[in-house]
Formats: sequence, C-alpha cells, structure tokens
Amino acid sequence: MTPEQLTAMAAEFGTPLYVYDAALIRERYRALESACGAYPHDIHYAIKANATLAIVRLMRECGARADANSGGEIEVALRAGFAPGEIVFTGVGKSPAELQRAVALGVKAINAESPGEVERIAAMARDAGAIARVAIRINPDVDAESHPHISTGLRTNKFGMSIDAARALAREIGKHPSLHIVGLHVHIGSQITKTTPLARAAEAMAGLAKELMAEGAKLEHLDVGGGLGIPYKAGQTVVSPQEYVDAILPPIRETGLTLVLEPGRWIVGPAGVLLTRVVDLKEQPADPAGGEPRWFVIADAGMTDLLRPALYGAFHQIDAVTPRAGADRLCDIVGPVCETTDTLGSARRLPPVEVGDLLVVKDAGAYGSVMSSNYNRRAVPAEVMDGKLIRRRQTIEDLLQWDI
Ligand SMILES: Cc1ncc(COP(=O)(O)O)c(C=O)c1O
Repeated sequence: MTPEQLTAMAAEFGTPLYVYDAALIRERYRALESACGAYPHDIHYAIKANATLAIVRLMRECGARADANSGGEIEVALRAGFAPGEIVFTGVGKSPAELQRAVALGVKAINAESPGEVERIAAMARDAGAIARVAIRINPDVDAESHPHISTGLRTNKFGMSIDAARALAREIGKHPSLHIVGLHVHIGSQITKTTPLARAAEAMAGLAKELMAEGAKLEHLDVGGGLGIPYKAGQTVVSPQEYVDAILPPIRETGLTLVLEPGRWIVGPAGVLLTRVVDLKEQPADPAGGEPRWFVIADAGMTDLLRPALYGAFHQIDAVTPRAGADRLCDIVGPVCETTDTLGSARRLPPVEVGDLLVVKDAGAYGSVMSSNYNRRAVPAEVMDGKLIRRRQTIEDLLQWDI
C-alpha cells in the first residue's frame, strides 16, 4: 500500500485503523496450498489469528476450511459459510455449552484435550443419539523454541495429553459406541522459526497413529496445528512453506492419512497493518548518565488496539507513513492507555515526527484486531480491506449497550 493510499484511508475512516490487503492473503494461502503438493491435505484457517468476518469469508473463498478455538469462533465459521464438516474445534477448557453445540452440529473433529473432556463428549453424543467425531490432542513435550508465552508443546504446558495418555484414551474411545476417533492433533506453539521442533512433533504424532492403526483404529487425518512464523524484523530468518511441508510430511506420508494444517499467522500476519496518528510528543528528561536525547511519540493506538508488544514484548516494525526530512531521533512509541506497558515500540529510530503525522505498524494482520479490548472504555478500531470498510469503528453507544 502506498503512503498516499494509507493517508487517504486514514482521512476517510479515521485512526487507529486496521488495513488489510486481500491479494496478499490470497497469494499467501496459495503458496501454502501449493507447498502441500499432491499429498491429500486440508488447510483449516485458524480463525483465532483474525476473526473478522470478511477475512474468514475470504479464507473460505480461497478454499480453506476452518479451525475454531471457541464456541464464538464456531459461530463465526458458520456465519462465513463453512459447513460443520469443514470445522475442527480445538481448545483447552471447552464449556459444556460449546461441546454440546459441536456435538449437535457434527463438526469434522473435536480436538479433545483430556480423558474427562472425552467422557463429557461421549455422554452428550449418547444423549443426542449421535456419534461424535473426536481427535486426541497430543502434547509431545517438544520445545517450539518460540516465545515461552506462545509455546504449547511442553509437558508443563496446559495443552494436550502425553503420548502414553493419548494411547490409552484412544483405545477407550475405540470401544465407545458414541465416539469415533478420526485423528490425532498436535500444536506446539506459534511464531516457530525452525523446522526441527515441527518435524519432531509430526514424528511423535505419526508414530502413535501407526500403532493405533495397527490395532484397528480407523483414523482419517493427522492435524499438525499451526505455528509457522513470519519475519517481524528485517532480515529475520524464518521457515518457508516448502521447508515446512518438507519437514512435517515424511512421517505423515508413512501413515497415508490426510494432512490437516491449521495456519493463522503465516497467512494473515503480513497482510495487515495498523495505522495510527501521533497525538502528542514529549522529550524525555535528560539521562544523568548522559546519552542521546530520547522522545516519547504518543500515538492514538495502544495496547487496546494491538496487544502483542505489551503481552509478549513482541516487535513490530513502525515507520512514518510520509517521512519528514531531518535527522532520526531515538523514540519510544507509546499509546494513550493508562499503563506503562502500553508501548508499541521501544528505542526506535524515527525521522522527525509532528503531531498529526501518521505511523504504520507493520505485520499486524494476525493476533492484532482479535486481541483488541475496551480497556479505558476505548472503542475497538475500524478495519478496512482493499479500501472498503469491513468492520466499523465502535461507538460509545456500542460500548455502553450492555450496561444496565
Ligand atoms: C490449536 C491451534 N491451532 C492453530 C493455531 C494457529 O497458529 P499460528 O497462527 O501460529 O499459525 C493456534 C494458535 O496458537 C492454535 O492454538
């Protein structure tokens, strides 16, 4: 997107504003799709990465299926036009109402997290006279070597079951008349930038699948989850879709089972930016130890609009939309929220900026708008794709409508 286009969108829709590029989303989906080649596979878009309806609909138009992580995301998937048989339902701590809905709909797989959850699904299926399709989420005790807050495949993480527990549970499910074990599932984390952990997780899952199939289990698919990372910093090394598929496919191929992928960030992350306007500037008091003058650049977007920097110390490149001439300054780019952690970028070099200038926060298409909140009674930003509004900005009336 050109600076002129970004400036025009900010003028038309206001800021903070999420701006997405549909062509880039399509292109990235196709790249992942073609990396899978001729091996049977289904790409289930991880709705949690960006749940705005127009984006989820776009993924469906691309040919994706859906990975829902809550009852709300199941409803979004249905609203976007996905059939229940195209939805996998994942997540720790599924509520009775969520499980009931998934069983009644007959989703493609409920990725079960514990023996207790499987028991609850079985009881619901029996009462409904249905056969619930269940996959077991394994926890392979593999370090994703990503940020600890987004690593999910270690034995100490709350997700999934050990291989031994999964094996025992699979045998129980096999005997149950109201359950069909359709596959296994693993997801060891997000923003993974090395192939080895992904390959190890796939190997662990495929090994168990082979054992279960030898015992007669009628598995249909192996779900490797999501996790493929993107370069947030210039020059950061990441795994390409082909390297990814080449790493995970060999053990899956040995089983002959359909490969299921749940990518989120890799598809939508680089296709979205957050536009924000500078609302104030302050020079920081001089450091008694000396050093370069440092500025606070106070933006109208903060942690309520893009939580990742405050939540995980995540890095997003931040640039002036129309850089002014002059020497760079050392800046902390902060938001207006009443928290010191409300910082979009620390110790960045920016050209001189003035109040009213636009900044663009890059690679904000995934885990951006979905994590926005109303803290400080702030309205959730508007979203635009290809220059058209896809979600309007909240108003104070929206914010107050639930208060009694
Ligand atoms: C179970 C599951 N599947 C898929 C994803 C999507 O991951 P990513 O956006 O890193 O591809 C997540 C996100 O953490 C997840 O928890």
